[in-house]
Amino acid sequence: AKQKLWGGRFTGETDPLMHAFNQSLKYDQRMHAADIRGSIAYAKALTLVGILTKEEETKIVQGLTAVGKEWESGQFQVQPDDEDIHTANERRLSELIGPLGGKLHTGRSRNDQVATDLRLWLLGQVSEIEAGLVSLIRVMVDRADKERDHLMPGYTHLQRGQPIRWSHLLLSHAFSFTTDLERLRQLIPRISVLPLGSGALAGNPFAVDRHFLAKELGFQSLAENSLWGVGDRDFVIEFMMWASLTTTHLSRISEDFIIYSSAEFGFITLSDAYSTGSSMMPQKKNPDSLELLRGKAGRVFGQMAGFLMSYKGLPSTYNKDLQEDKESLFDTVDTISSCLPIAEGVIATLNVHPQKMRQALTMDVLATDLADYLVRKGVPFRETHHISGRAVALAESRKCQLNELTVTDYKDLHPDFGDDVHGVFDFEASVERRQAIGGPSRAMIDRQVAVLREKLGG
Ligand code: ARG
Repeated sequence: AKQKLWGGRFTGETDPLMHAFNQSLKYDQRMHAADIRGSIAYAKALTLVGILTKEEETKIVQGLTAVGKEWESGQFQVQPDDEDIHTANERRLSELIGPLGGKLHTGRSRNDQVATDLRLWLLGQVSEIEAGLVSLIRVMVDRADKERDHLMPGYTHLQRGQPIRWSHLLLSHAFSFTTDLERLRQLIPRISVLPLGSGALAGNPFAVDRHFLAKELGFQSLAENSLWGVGDRDFVIEFMMWASLTTTHLSRISEDFIIYSSAEFGFITLSDAYSTGSSMMPQKKNPDSLELLRGKAGRVFGQMAGFLMSYKGLPSTYNKDLQEDKESLFDTVDTISSCLPIAEGVIATLNVHPQKMRQALTMDVLATDLADYLVRKGVPFRETHHISGRAVALAESRKCQLNELTVTDYKDLHPDFGDDVHGVFDFEASVERRQAIGGPSRAMIDRQVAVLREKLGG
């Protein structure tokens, strides 16, 4: 263990299995650019407090830049003793520039370094995920705008309830994703907190200018307590909670569309680009894209719950359990990053079948409107609900639809039914009566489209 960065106090060798068990380089190497950036900023901060001369700083920065280029071009040679991205980069730096490389870690610990790297790396990912989410919502809003008018049954308990518009349904999901977008943006100030300068736990003894470091690395604020700075992973948990909810929303829209794409509903068909077939049943076209989106939510929630369990019992500051944050976070980022463009593609390319939606609209979904007709004549709703229910029962007993009952039938049910009662049985009119904000009338769909576009920024 003597050749390890921390080998001084060791006489014995690390067990090979322990070495492999401890090693995080295979996954944390994806933070190589953040690690180099953090080190360059730290070298500059060391110069400002006189630990490095300007020439030393230049050599270190050049060396770090060269190490960074090796990673980018795939030339970086991992050595068996490299433990993690931090030790690997420092080892390579010293190979390139000699013992001067050993000055870089002055006053710094991998504890403040890893927390800095992870936050920096996540901030970069968040802006890509944010762009992916905006793009998904835009596709949904554009589609709702173009297909504003199609009527379909709205369901509760998966039983036909009242007529709505297809656009209204699409927009309902777009609103969920927009709250996800708002929540994601709200995470940023809490991720963008700089731990660097916290040392191993007790702060930095060389008075490095942490405001300078924050500015160099683009952090919004400083970890104001060094113990917290090295030990906090709330930002990891919070991001994974965010991802759990966002993938849950992806799962729910997927479930709607899986149902609507079944032959029994036939409201939509997925594009071939997002469907797959069966190895046995030649006729099958399966909505695998949507099923995978639905399945991924479980995986993301699992990563979140898994690391939260690792985190919950830890004593203050850094403990090696915290290394478990990375695979959970990376998998979560990879999963959400792969889900968003798939969801967007599925939604952009699916075909809607308005005539099928229309066929699914049976007259019973206007039973509420029938009750409302009498309400407008002054009858209390509790009574009109009952009368309309009796009309439904009567139609059922005659095996006919509500609009096939005669005016006389209706007048027998209640004297306030007039000759115009059949005017109720118009799906379009029902939807257009819903002029209150939030409803499925054309004007309110237009409003929802405008509200969402405003939130997305034009
Ligand atoms: N690879 C470590 C991690 O991911 C870096 C920090 C190690 N610090 C330490 N004191 N062992 O957490």
